[in-house]
Amino acid sequence: MVSGIRYGARSCGEIFLMRRLLKPFGRCPPKAPKQTPSFYHPMNATNLKLACGLVDANYIQQGGEAIKSRENLVKKLLSQRSLPDTAWDDVSIEHFLSELAMMDSNNFKDSVGFGEREARVFSTLVSKRHYRLGHGIGRSGDIGAVQPKAAGSSLISKLTRALALSCLKISGIQHAKAALVLPVATGMSIALTLMTLRAERRDEPPQNARYVLWLRIDQKACFKAIYTAGLIPIVIGTVLDGDLVRADLNELRSKMEELGRDNVLCVLSTTSCFAPRARDDVETIAKMCQEANIGHVINNAYGLIDSKCCHAVNQACRVGRVDAFVQSTDKNLMVPVGGAIVAGPNKKFIGRIAENYPGRASMSPILDVFITFLSMGKSGWQQKLKERKNNVPVLIQELTKVATKHGERVLNTAKGNNISFAVTCNHLEEPTELGSWLFKRSISGTRVVAPGACKTIESTTFVNWGSHHLDYPSAYVTFAASMGLRTEEIGTLCAKLDQALSHFAKKRESRVVGKGNGGESGVVGGVLRAAGGGGSTGGGGTGGGGAGGGANKYKCK
Ligand SMILES: Cc1ncc(COP(=O)(O)O)c(C=O)c1O
Repeated sequence: MVSGIRYGARSCGEIFLMRRLLKPFGRCPPKAPKQTPSFYHPMNATNLKLACGLVDANYIQQGGEAIKSRENLVKKLLSQRSLPDTAWDDVSIEHFLSELAMMDSNNFKDSVGFGEREARVFSTLVSKRHYRLGHGIGRSGDIGAVQPKAAGSSLISKLTRALALSCLKISGIQHAKAALVLPVATGMSIALTLMTLRAERRDEPPQNARYVLWLRIDQKACFKAIYTAGLIPIVIGTVLDGDLVRADLNELRSKMEELGRDNVLCVLSTTSCFAPRARDDVETIAKMCQEANIGHVINNAYGLIDSKCCHAVNQACRVGRVDAFVQSTDKNLMVPVGGAIVAGPNKKFIGRIAENYPGRASMSPILDVFITFLSMGKSGWQQKLKERKNNVPVLIQELTKVATKHGERVLNTAKGNNISFAVTCNHLEEPTELGSWLFKRSISGTRVVAPGACKTIESTTFVNWGSHHLDYPSAYVTFAASMGLRTEEIGTLCAKLDQALSHFAKKRESRVVGKGNGGESGVVGGVLRAAGGGGSTGGGGTGGGGAGGGANKYKCK
């Protein structure tokens, strides 16, 4: 095995030294050719020639050309720095990774390391799991920095950022100018983004802008991220638009005016979310943020899979202020949980997030994304997007059939949310039982929301948690047309849902008969717990949703 970059038979350094030594004697070897250095792999031209003595030259030539074609893939990747048009095969990916690993000091043939961290890995299984890459990414003060000891890992990190940007553009976010792939999931990446915004604002007086105006979406991690960043959330409520739940932009506007730029760090809006919540009108919000000169971070957790979310993010970047938008790697790109892409229209700010990351970081989530990008290619990614889009009408149609059969309906939310869909559960006495019934029968990921739950996160308590709204008029169960869902899985889901609804209907009937038909309306949803009631989760006074204005309307206590 040969390591190092060489020009022809002699290395650059050797030629340089020889020229210096021989110049006084007037016998100079030719200058090093001005060519791009190529990776020096075992079956190079010289060795292929030598191999011709052992195997028929025609066969060797054919084999050599096969190697060359893989070299061309790498050449194209390094020069274009975008998703390859077509998918790479696994052999090409593994071969490339192995050559990149050889460029890291832990794999140098005669390397002796005396630092406190030299990428020594005890288990060969662990080493193999990481393709012998052990240095991680970044340096102590910047996750985007190149590591001198790890040229290969650094190259993967830089390429992954470039490929992520290319993927965002293919998905419709043309105004993305920089992307960072972080080895932490969406919630933590949002926290890091908010911390960076806060750090930026520390440079300009007054330095006390600590409020984040958060448009209510009942998902815990993105709300917690505000607290993790040491900031204070101000919850902006939602309004009903038919079945859809939309953020109340009038409330947002008045909070912006009331608190002012001196106190408000940014707005945290959301594109992808569980039905019946609609994606936020991030375009309008971006304009409002620009006018008010306050930050705007978009939680685009799984919005990359949906052209409408991507279009909305792109428009927001085009017409107003967006500091960054954050998307999960697992929810969009089908990799194990653990990473997020933070991107934005301003290269400098994305660079500041990288600089704000303390220390080095794990390479694993980045490597998963890198491999996946090569493995999918542009055509694979577009194909996946198309498959998902095609699944949407199928899911709505099949859910509608089952819902209608059982006297329920699919909530009419598709105009504001093209990923998650909900079926009412108005005839179920205990809607939450439906979720566990389905889960026990291998249907996971459904989310049953029944009115009345209270949830406290840090110091904020939400009334009717789960429904994104103080007073949503019905119970429902949600299903997502997520990335990678196979169309046949929709059939399985609907068959099980049909069974479940029949099962609960029978149960209800038998109870009604047993009770002599006494007092069973079968409809849940009229009773909602409102703010100001008594205390614990799920408790609270009944009657009259929609409590008065102000952030404390979310408090149960
Ligand atoms: C809208 C939204 N934001 C944020 C998150 C948190 O993502 P992660 O678990 O990747 O931190 C989720 C997870 O479900 C989500 O749905």
